[in-house]
Amino acid sequence: MSLETRPGSVRFDAVQKRFGSFTAIHSLDLTIEPGTLVTLLGPSGCGKTTTLRMLAGLEQPTGGRIVIGGRDVTALPANERDVSMVFQSYALFPHMSVGDNVAYGLRSTGRSKREAAEQAAHGLELVGLKGYGDRLPAELSGGQQQRVAVARALVLEPQVLLLDEPLSNLDARLRRKVRTEIRELQQRLGFTAVYVTHDQEEALAVSDRIVVLHEGRIAQAGSPRELYERPASAFIADFIGEANVVPCEVLGQDRGRARIRVGGLEHELPFFEPLGATARLAIRPNAMFLQTSSTQALNGRVLSAAYLGDHVEYEVETAVGTLFVIDPAVENVRSIHSDVGIGLYERGVAVIPG
Ligand SMILES: Nc1ncnc2c1ncn2[C@@H]1O[C@H](COP(=O)(O)OP(=O)(O)O)[C@@H](O)[C@H]1O
Ligand SMILES: [Mg+2]
Repeated sequence: MSLETRPGSVRFDAVQKRFGSFTAIHSLDLTIEPGTLVTLLGPSGCGKTTTLRMLAGLEQPTGGRIVIGGRDVTALPANERDVSMVFQSYALFPHMSVGDNVAYGLRSTGRSKREAAEQAAHGLELVGLKGYGDRLPAELSGGQQQRVAVARALVLEPQVLLLDEPLSNLDARLRRKVRTEIRELQQRLGFTAVYVTHDQEEALAVSDRIVVLHEGRIAQAGSPRELYERPASAFIADFIGEANVVPCEVLGQDRGRARIRVGGLEHELPFFEPLGATARLAIRPNAMFLQTSSTQALNGRVLSAAYLGDHVEYEVETAVGTLFVIDPAVENVRSIHSDVGIGLYERGVAVIPG
């Protein structure tokens, strides 16, 4: 069996979505392997929810095909697709007990009352809410309500679980906890999950693969590490983590290593696509160190310095722009207006063609 026909696999085949004259999704091609958690990541309005809703059958594509577990589901209604969705708002029925909320979908697929109640209890146990079945949703915390929503989707044993910004109603500390729980559950039970978020840190933390959408197109897809360490564009470099993007000269390129120059600074680093005479460097704020200005450095002048306990944040004005630098050398805070030379560490610098 090929990958695209295994249960839990998903394939978008030239999928397009137009709303009137506006194209929300331009010819999307994407394969999702069974048992993986794939995140659709991108700024607000890039098309994440539209893509998820097309997969769920809540929105009809205006072109292309969607295949789930080898079956073309493009024309099938939502309830025949074998997917279930966890919404941002949880969408629990407030007047129904937690147990009845989880059993609701099972009842509507024809399970007996007893069978549904048993499976619901098992679902609640899976998400760590054993014994909460008799409560009302309002008697649970936000994090617990979201776990109920996950249990309700999981008990249907869908081929694919869809989650649209599932943590956005939770406070920052709880977001970290619940995202870890969702990831653990997904890995333990081995289901396929498509997870939507606009938060790059959340995406890095939970995903096997991240698909970054930008204005209805895939900007880059890869593992968290690939996206962070090998950004294909300035957009990705700045969206995944934070980066200073500056122009550089390419002095040479040989056997996967490129030699570049920016100001007086020369640096050697890996490259993955052929480069022209000039390119851009994406420099993470913590990939730079400050030293005395010299002919071998990228020289600049300190515009601001903020002592933050375990590091100092600087803005340094240079010939290629103002750079944001995070320096762990707190014992020696540079004063404002002083001249400095910027050096580069090996890690945290990537060259981007163009
Ligand atoms: N029903 C609709 N009618 C018209 N435009 C829509 C509709 N749904 C979404 N859009 C537009 O499609 C684009 C992508 O929306 P959406 O998928 O919700 O983005 P995201 O979830 O990434 O924030 C946006 O520009 C949005 O305004
Ligand atoms: Mg959305």
